[in-house]
Amino acid sequence: MLAVNDLEVHYQELRALRGVSLEVTQADLVALIGSNGAGKTTLLNTISGLIPAVKGQVSWRGNSILGFSADAICQEGIIQVPEGRKLFSKMTVGENLEMGAYLPTARAYIAENLQMVFDIFPRLAERRKQLAGSLSGGEQQMVAVARAIMARPQLLMLDEPSLGLAPVMAADIFQVVEDLNQRGITILLISQEVLHTLTIATYAYVLENGKVTLDGTAQHLLDDPRIKESYLGL
Ligand SMILES: Nc1ncnc2c1ncn2[C@@H]1O[C@H](COP(=O)(O)OP(=O)(O)OP(=O)(O)O)[C@@H](O)[C@H]1O
Ligand SMILES: [Mg+2]
Repeated sequence: MLAVNDLEVHYQELRALRGVSLEVTQADLVALIGSNGAGKTTLLNTISGLIPAVKGQVSWRGNSILGFSADAICQEGIIQVPEGRKLFSKMTVGENLEMGAYLPTARAYIAENLQMVFDIFPRLAERRKQLAGSLSGGEQQMVAVARAIMARPQLLMLDEPSLGLAPVMAADIFQVVEDLNQRGITILLISQEVLHTLTIATYAYVLENGKVTLDGTAQHLLDDPRIKESYLGL
């Protein structure tokens, strides 16, 4: 479905991605793990069309999308939930959700999608009229995920959705991500909560210093001594 090939991205002198290749197959829940500064966000932002690549390929359903605008990539059904939520804080929860459905393909399904979102996040239904900026951190993260669902993603890319959340809330978010995948949404999940992530993922990549150093089925990675030592502290 999505194929990234030998992707190279620089910030001036800094080589943030050094020939990254990765694949996401339809219906998969693929995890991307790696420590701070490894290049995870850079990779998502490049796929989303927010950052240009120096070289390499990004193809979607067999066609190159590298160089497409961020808007065109959204229209292809690739939707990103950015690091740090980025909600419209002066707008209500309901208005934020409607903003997610601005694409014509999503507009037509607004009522149906709202129903699904409130089904997944009953807490948001209760807070529909509340200003997004006044929600708790975990609730704001739910709105960010819900807003992306309103866009009817074919590929949902989540950048550290559990960052800064209390363990119970983080567990809820992972549960939702797994649930969305079971509803048929293909997912690319960035997370530093390696154990949780590998428990729900089907396949995973480890990114270190702009390079993929390890990949395999999530189960395989959970059993890998390098993962146990470096990421699970075992
Ligand atoms: N806009 C930018 N300008 C210059 N350097 C940047 C920029 N954005 C990121 N970098 C650098 O690129 C490298 C990769 O950053 P990136 O944000 O992709 O890492 P990350 O894996 O998402 O890290 P984290 O887990 O901390 O979010 C880092 O060394 C970072 O300092
Ligand atoms: Mg990041």
